[in-house]
Amino acid sequence: MRLVLKPIIPVLVAFFGAIASACSPYTDQPIRSGEIWPDDRGEHINAHGGGILVHDGTFYWFGEHKGERSSSAFVGVTCYSSKDLVNWKYEGVALSVSDDPASDITRGCTLERPKVIYNKKTGKFVMWFHLELRGRGYSAARAAVAVSDNVTGPYTYIGSGRVNPGIPAENVTDADLAYIDALQEIPRSWTPEWLEAISKGLYYKRDFAGGQMSRDMTLFVDDDGKAYHIYAAEENLTLNIAELSDDYQSHSGRYVRVAPAGHNEAPAIFKRNGTYWMITSGCTGWDPNAARMFSAPSIFGPWTQHPNPCRGEKSEITYGGQSTFILPVPGKKDLFIFMADIWRPRNPIDARYIWLPIQFEQDGTPYLEWLDEWNIKDYK
Ligand code: GAL
Repeated sequence: MRLVLKPIIPVLVAFFGAIASACSPYTDQPIRSGEIWPDDRGEHINAHGGGILVHDGTFYWFGEHKGERSSSAFVGVTCYSSKDLVNWKYEGVALSVSDDPASDITRGCTLERPKVIYNKKTGKFVMWFHLELRGRGYSAARAAVAVSDNVTGPYTYIGSGRVNPGIPAENVTDADLAYIDALQEIPRSWTPEWLEAISKGLYYKRDFAGGQMSRDMTLFVDDDGKAYHIYAAEENLTLNIAELSDDYQSHSGRYVRVAPAGHNEAPAIFKRNGTYWMITSGCTGWDPNAARMFSAPSIFGPWTQHPNPCRGEKSEITYGGQSTFILPVPGKKDLFIFMADIWRPRNPIDARYIWLPIQFEQDGTPYLEWLDEWNIKDYK
């Protein structure tokens, strides 16, 4: 039997391979970072600081709508859909800002880095985003949540606030807190003593009762269906990773501080072969800086910092961009797309997108190289 089958095997492999590629949704059209990306209406995609949800074989890209002069939210969160990650259909405004001046999300608020996940238990789509109240700069530092029965919306705003008020982080020690309590005075900002105090929890403790600050953020759903909210807390000095409740609409109370006093924002995360990888940026506002990378054997850590994953020209400024999301591409075993924004604060609507395939060293360490163009089809 074996003898008979042997010559047929390459034929079968070629046959099923051909069927698989005929069924593949991916096209020959390349991805060209930094260029204008027209949607089905011919308009540059307006979904900044975004993320992608894969649902029922379709990609849904949610992001910040930006105008020509202001980065504030005058429209809301936009949604685009695609089967191939190259051709995008505008699906409209998924979460609209409110006309009610009393609403948290009134027109002119700051609504950043929206991410949507699907909850299998409730059948609802849950959107989290960073919210700043209108006219109050970046002082509110709130996490906000909205839900919908339909992936493209409309999403209903549920509420916003600081995170986990009165709840201790799992990795804060009594020794850390004793160190803070023993401080005679608050050290001068940016001195080594101050960074040490921040690292031990100076701002964590300051914000404990009212809840931790939450600015740049992303979401991550693990293989077991648990979801996590990863956000810049403590005046952007420390990241938090907080588990969401079973319905994804609130926090469960479990969270850890990550890279305390490391000054990270723009977190983007993925998991490969059991290791969690996170790419972040430093904090220089709209200006690009060098990316940072961390890994951990568990979502709650311990997280270890690695060198900047970017290589080549402009690697010290992430090729002009700032991380926003990492997409594992379905059907492509080792294709994880690193997504970043090239901000244009003087003409925010013209901000561009960087999408690069993450590459891997022999030992599994991720790295990035700029590619003028590349094709999803070329990945297995
Ligand atoms: C960036 C942040 C953006 C936005 C901007 C405002 O550092 O990643 O999401 O908040 O600052 O200056």
